[in-house]
Amino acid sequence: MNAQAQIRVLIVEDDPDQARLLLYGLTKEGFLAAVVESATSALLRLKQEIFDVVLSDLNMPGIRGDEFLRRLRNDHPSVAFAMYTGETQDVSAAVNAFRNGIDDYLTKPMSTKELAKALVGAVHNRQRELFMERQLRMARHGQFEAVYRTQRALVRAMETKDMYTRHHSVKVAYCTVLMAREMGLDRPRMRTFKVAALLHDIGKIGVPLTVLHKEGALDDKEWEIIKKHTTDGAHIVEPLKKYLPEVVSIVRHEHERWDGTGYPDGIGKLDIPLASRLIMIADTYDAICSDRAYRKAQSPEVAAEVIRAGAGTQFDPDLVPIFERSYHQFPKPELGAEAVLEREREAGG
Ligand SMILES: [Fe+2]
Repeated sequence: MNAQAQIRVLIVEDDPDQARLLLYGLTKEGFLAAVVESATSALLRLKQEIFDVVLSDLNMPGIRGDEFLRRLRNDHPSVAFAMYTGETQDVSAAVNAFRNGIDDYLTKPMSTKELAKALVGAVHNRQRELFMERQLRMARHGQFEAVYRTQRALVRAMETKDMYTRHHSVKVAYCTVLMAREMGLDRPRMRTFKVAALLHDIGKIGVPLTVLHKEGALDDKEWEIIKKHTTDGAHIVEPLKKYLPEVVSIVRHEHERWDGTGYPDGIGKLDIPLASRLIMIADTYDAICSDRAYRKAQSPEVAAEVIRAGAGTQFDPDLVPIFERSYHQFPKPELGAEAVLEREREAGG
């Protein structure tokens, strides 16, 4: 059995004599060959039958060559495309064709033997491309997995110190993602926002519990210690920067206010990262709806009223309507982190 014995080639050729010649020659070379006369028929045929390679000119009757190639790459990524053209070799056309995803560029006339060799090469080329793409996807997934696990470890470190912050962080992350989804943000961005929201208070690991859970007002010195959790948090998540570049500044600025009177840098409006502005809302909502050392939990309606009243001062006024549309889906205040995580798993997120 020779190398091309099992290769299935779909020849797209509108000239009947050429088509017959190619069919005859390639079959003789051991290919399983079929002919169609247009790009449109080729796409139909590819839906019904499996081929390894398409041999075609880009200028065929029916749909345009670039559209044909685009649909082929989208719908049949494993099928190689060998461009067979009678046009005198034009470097820019070849470069463009490769950029658009062809696997080989062949010019007429060509002996059947040469053509057979080129088709085998095109199929191998496509297999190599697919392999590389798969490797790349796996590497990306691996990176995300590593980041995710690191982040879980950090959250655990936090929870050994303070369970409130754990429940709070999980809920804030859930609410932040819900609002990001309402805004129509893409998945990679939502992932970053989720990680940042989960870790937004990680800097509190450096705040003594006597200050963190103090009943009553904080003095100036204690207040300074509390404020430091933003810069400490940014410092802690700094090593994640390579994979999630936005996370560091999101954590640093999660207490900045829209009117510029927040901390640590006193930046305002759109200088504050979007995720930090969303976290500010989710954080306030969850804090109001939770029992704290110094006061009892209040209802979601009270929290919503506070957020509405703070639009344009504490909160981004354009994000408050996003909150209004999303908060009925926020987890019930009495739910703990485990129940929220369970809900998240059920939703596939
Ligand atoms: Fe915080």
